[in-house]
Amino acid sequence: MGNHGYFMLLLVLSILLPCSVSSTTRRFKFNVGWKKVTRLCHTKSILTVNGEYPGPTIVVHEGDNVEVKVTNHVALNTTIHWHGIRQYRTGWADGPAYITQCPVSFGKSYTYKFTVVDQRGTLWWHAHLSWQRATVNGAFIILPRMPYPFPVPIQKEIPIIFGEWWNSDVIAIENEMIQTGDGPNSSDAYTINGLPGPLYSCSLKDTFIQTVEYGKTYLLRIINAALNDELFFAVANHTLTVVEIDATYTKPFTTEAIMITPGQTTNVLLTANQQQQQQQKTASDSTGSMFVMAARPYLTSVFPFDNSTTIGFLHYKSTTKTEPSSSIQPPFPPYTLPKNLPAMEDTKFATDFADNLRSLASFQYPCKVPKTVDKKVITTISLNLQDCPVNENCKGYLNKRFLASMNNQSFVRPSMSILESHYKNLKSGHLFSGFPEKPPNPFNYTGVDPVKENMNTEFGSKLIVVPFGTKLEIVLQDTNFLNPENHPIHIHGHNFFIVGRGFGNYDAEKDPLGYNLVDPPERNTVAVPVGGWAALRINADNPGVWFIHCHLEEHTTWGLAMGLIVQGGKNPSQRLLPPPPDFPPC
Ligand SMILES: *[C@@H]1O[C@H](CO)[C@@H](O)[C@H](O)[C@H]1NC(C)=O
Ligand SMILES: *[C@@H]1O[C@H](CO)[C@@H](O)[C@H](O)[C@H]1NC(C)=O
Ligand SMILES: *[C@@H]1O[C@H](CO)[C@@H](O)[C@H](O)[C@H]1NC(C)=O
Ligand SMILES: *[C@@H]1O[C@H](CO)[C@@H](O)[C@H](O)[C@H]1NC(C)=O
Ligand SMILES: *[C@@H]1O[C@H](CO)[C@@H](O)[C@H](O)[C@H]1NC(C)=O
Ligand SMILES: *[C@@H]1O[C@H](CO)[C@@H](O)[C@H](O)[C@H]1NC(C)=O
Repeated sequence: MGNHGYFMLLLVLSILLPCSVSSTTRRFKFNVGWKKVTRLCHTKSILTVNGEYPGPTIVVHEGDNVEVKVTNHVALNTTIHWHGIRQYRTGWADGPAYITQCPVSFGKSYTYKFTVVDQRGTLWWHAHLSWQRATVNGAFIILPRMPYPFPVPIQKEIPIIFGEWWNSDVIAIENEMIQTGDGPNSSDAYTINGLPGPLYSCSLKDTFIQTVEYGKTYLLRIINAALNDELFFAVANHTLTVVEIDATYTKPFTTEAIMITPGQTTNVLLTANQQQQQQQKTASDSTGSMFVMAARPYLTSVFPFDNSTTIGFLHYKSTTKTEPSSSIQPPFPPYTLPKNLPAMEDTKFATDFADNLRSLASFQYPCKVPKTVDKKVITTISLNLQDCPVNENCKGYLNKRFLASMNNQSFVRPSMSILESHYKNLKSGHLFSGFPEKPPNPFNYTGVDPVKENMNTEFGSKLIVVPFGTKLEIVLQDTNFLNPENHPIHIHGHNFFIVGRGFGNYDAEKDPLGYNLVDPPERNTVAVPVGGWAALRINADNPGVWFIHCHLEEHTTWGLAMGLIVQGGKNPSQRLLPPPPDFPPC
């Protein structure tokens, strides 16, 4: 072995050793219960984990075994999903109700057990039954075994979770939309770490304020846990350097703002580099040492939505006096929104931002995008307007019922765990196969006037079935039914590579020529451009049943979902593990 080979061997050992030597089991207890919470002067009982809103932050190291014992103390079913965790061979712990498991019922417990393999960064966890995730969510942080590949030292890491607050009960909002066929009531506020901030009435005391020190750099771990809205986020007078998305490192790039969809996470570096001209003034009589941070929706739908803005503050710590934390109050109005916050309709910003996202693709963190494909699926992602059944009163547009579909299949949740059925029937074929691999009736998907007279859909629970190790390409095609919209599509159990995106109709001849097969962004949730398409490549190397759905909760409710079954491989290490003994029954 020459010098070069020896050096390589050392390098490889130094990467592998820490993981194999020091893997530990981290145990957590999640108690799901009601808690009275007041926001905007409205008090209501919300579902929480351990009484916290947002929920507790989980911090583990890459390579750790994780065990979370979830105990349900409420007379509702629940499940928890570990959003973005690969769950290699442990699909039993993924969490989506009736896809991988039956719910944890009142008084029962279930311990989710999985290992965090080859992932590092910010992910999150949330309830995965009905709209419970509105309040049942929190950060899931995976600390790396190797130093961060960032250019500067980090002073502090700060989780920033965006959410949506309704003054009324969220489950009632969902039930109402299911019953009437209409869209859901919009939320009453957006929140930063559960706090709406001073732009809402009766909300001044519920304002997020983050203290920073001049000259230091902070890592913001940003999570969009909102139910139905993609968001822009900016901090006045500060730029953000994106370094990681969905727990994969990116080539760092500096931006005035970010766009983040429900389901996505984005790590950014923020350097507190603004001079403090107004040291002598107290926080309450000046915004001199306070900078507004703001989030508001990226809007691509014509339907009613929450068009409000949540703000919080970056507070520069005084270098000349000690400030008791009680003196750090939000400044008095008026508040000026950051000039760098994109307008709600700024599709150009959203597009440019997405174009700038690239995998780091370094020696240590190679980009494993499949260069060839074994199977290609093209699917529409669509809203629908269903004819109202006789004797029903539908309150959606034109007295019809809103629905949504992929390849004209509106997903219906079965009443058992698909994963369990699949596992028990491995020999006798598949109960749920047969998802159409291309649009059943091609039309001009994004044309000005696609088939408006018939926007009905079909119902089913059909999934794509692929052998272990399939290199799969999925093209997601938005449609103009009702209106085009930017849809955040989330895939469970696998990361994917976004090799191409564009507006209009996907062209199977021309568009693949422009794919990025070098350093495409790797994610678990893609923002499919409004009136456009996105092409994803997946190494289908995780045996199990994996939900694929729009992370706008209203669209999932309407059926914008399907799933992927990855069969076991020849080698026993390529097969699903047996179900755990406490796996919840139906
Ligand atoms: C939704 O909004 C309508 C109109 O404001 C209201 O009548 C209804 O009670 C709301 N639904 C819920 C569940 O709060
Ligand atoms: C922040 O930016 C605004 C306009 O973009 C400018 O008017 C203001 O002076 C800046 N504030 C500071 C403290 O630099
Ligand atoms: C939000 O929508 C309401 C109702 O459509 C409208 O009156 C208001 O001006 C909008 N606000 C913003 C900031 O666009
Ligand atoms: C689809 O519709 C658009 C807009 O109406 C039109 O420009 C385009 O030519 C149509 N494409 C096809 C293939 O018909
Ligand atoms: C979807 O299915 C419905 C019900 O079978 C049918 O009427 C409609 O034409 C289909 N639409 C498309 C675009 O395939
Ligand atoms: C909880 O889930 C079980 C299994 O699907 C179901 O039989 C039961 O009705 C559900 N209970 C509630 C309160 O929704």
